[in-house]
Amino acid sequence: GTHLLVLQACNLTGWGGNELGSRMHVTTVDGEGNFSGEYHTAVSSAKKPIQPSPLIGSQHLDEDGQCTFGFTVNWKKFSDSTAVFVGQCFAGEGEDEILQTSWLLREKVDSLPSDWKATRTGRNIFTRM
Ligand SMILES: *[C@@H]1O[C@H](CO)[C@@H](O)[C@H](O)[C@H]1NC(C)=O
Ligand SMILES: *[C@@H]1O[C@H](CO)[C@@H](O)[C@H](O)[C@H]1NC(C)=O
Repeated sequence: GTHLLVLQACNLTGWGGNELGSRMHVTTVDGEGNFSGEYHTAVSSAKKPIQPSPLIGSQHLDEDGQCTFGFTVNWKKFSDSTAVFVGQCFAGEGEDEILQTSWLLREKVDSLPSDWKATRTGRNIFTRM
């Protein structure tokens, strides 16, 4: 028989958590790929207690389920920092969908001589929850 491979179009609505226990929730993706939602980090160097923080982003609307995307998180509820994420969705046949992401985190420093230490980078893998 003919095997018809049905590829799931990429749509970041919903989403899940990463290996650190942080969670991203995308409320909805519009017809141009704009999206917004909430990021609940499990890790923070801020002194105040962690709170879910707004995220806003944009994704490609590819038919093959392997879209790239980016979003910004403003941690204004408990910190002066801002983070940006970029990533790509991957889903093989019979495999769970994952998001491979990289991020840059900008912390606020009190003076220009401290600028050198203000940016951190890292990578996270998200799985559906
Ligand atoms: C993505 O999926 C959500 C929920 O199923 C839906 O409301 C939204 O319209 C979809 N967005 C696109 C661009 O297909
Ligand atoms: C997506 O975002 C862009 C930039 O803010 C905006 O111009 C556009 O109207 C948005 N698309 C929709 C469908 O709202």
